[in-house]
Amino acid sequence: MPTRRCDARHLQTQAWSLLVGCCLLGCSESDLAGVGPEFALPGPPSLAGVMPLTRPEGLDRQKVALGKDLFNDTRLSADGSIACSSCHDVAAGGDDGRPTAIGIGGRVGPLNTPTVFNSSLNVAQFWDGRASSLEEQIDQTVQSPLELGADWTTIEKRLRADRAMRKRFEAVFGTEPDAQTVKSAIAEYLRALITVDAPFDRYLAGDRSAMGADAVEGYELFSRLGCISCHQGRNLGGNFFQRIGVMGDFFAKRGRAPSEADLGRFNVTGREEDRYKFKVPSLRNVAQTAPYFHDGSGETLEDAVRMMVDVQLGRPVRDDEIRKLVAFLEALTGEVDEALL
Ligand code: HEC
Ligand code: HEC
Repeated sequence: MPTRRCDARHLQTQAWSLLVGCCLLGCSESDLAGVGPEFALPGPPSLAGVMPLTRPEGLDRQKVALGKDLFNDTRLSADGSIACSSCHDVAAGGDDGRPTAIGIGGRVGPLNTPTVFNSSLNVAQFWDGRASSLEEQIDQTVQSPLELGADWTTIEKRLRADRAMRKRFEAVFGTEPDAQTVKSAIAEYLRALITVDAPFDRYLAGDRSAMGADAVEGYELFSRLGCISCHQGRNLGGNFFQRIGVMGDFFAKRGRAPSEADLGRFNVTGREEDRYKFKVPSLRNVAQTAPYFHDGSGETLEDAVRMMVDVQLGRPVRDDEIRKLVAFLEALTGEVDEALL
């Protein structure tokens, strides 16, 4: 047990959920880089900081509406062919249902598209956590040759040529559209995309009939087997980085040797210990976001759960346990206000 990493300093600065997971798993300081005070959980915590999600407060509604339109605006891509929403369909789980993403010109990327729902709760953005804020994530996505492949000067020109757009930016920001205001509006929209009222949330809030017996037993298994030591906190993930294949060789089981994209967090830090580490994904709404894993190699939720039990926990599992875990994960599907769709 790496006691150095479970010291009192963490008690004061990190959320309980992180502390529990880190003590169990021995993650390093860098795994937690960027964890801010907003992750501190109020009140007496449950073991791993599990609690219901609540509607976001204090957002600027006009800015959210502008961000939503920009999220759907193909003028953000180099050739005007795609928008954020082409890969993040908020009417269908906030992702694209593909193993890996397809950007402008049909370019196939190496990574699975994560959902945009609840992304503002993540400690950092992207599978490898290379963006520390939503604004930085948007900046990289807009310019990535595998995604929107655009440049800000062109986008600014296009939006400024649109009188109605200019007026809306004027009303929200008091300025013309530019890179900073576009990023700010889209980020505000993303912050609004918190899913609430999942059966699990209602169960946590005291409605014991909100989840079926299988899901309740699945939650118990999820805690007892140790899934919760990684997928923890109110977002059931998104808090830190962990290696895929702690107890078994994920890549051997996948049947394809690791590529550069499979190096994960190592590509950001260059540290040997970060090889094959990824941000532990949030499991909220996970039933809607097949296929799974950073490479999209997990076809169904059942496949993903089996792989996790195998390579993260290294234990045998019965079919009824898998069924219950899946029933629990299915109870994590929440809703957003219709106006955001
Ligand atoms: C071509 C498909 C595609 C388009 C277009 C696209 N994304 Fe993504 N998005 C992805 C992929 C793939 C990732 C993961 C990339 C990685 O981890 O390196 C991602 C990651 C993200 C994340 C991080 C989520 C997390 O949990 O880490 C957010 C937030 C996001 N995108 C929002 C947006 C926004 C906003 C736009 C428009 C400005 C956009 N995306 C456009 C495919 C796309
Ligand atoms: C040691 C930490 C750890 C443990 C324990 C763990 N996971 Fe994971 N889980 C991860 C990481 C890291 C990923 C992302 C891996 C990747 O994509 O390469 C992941 C991915 C997943 C995914 C896919 C999510 C997506 O959006 O693609 C599911 C589902 C999942 N885990 C469920 C579980 C369940 C159920 C358990 C317990 C049986 C469990 N995990 C135990 C770290 C863990």
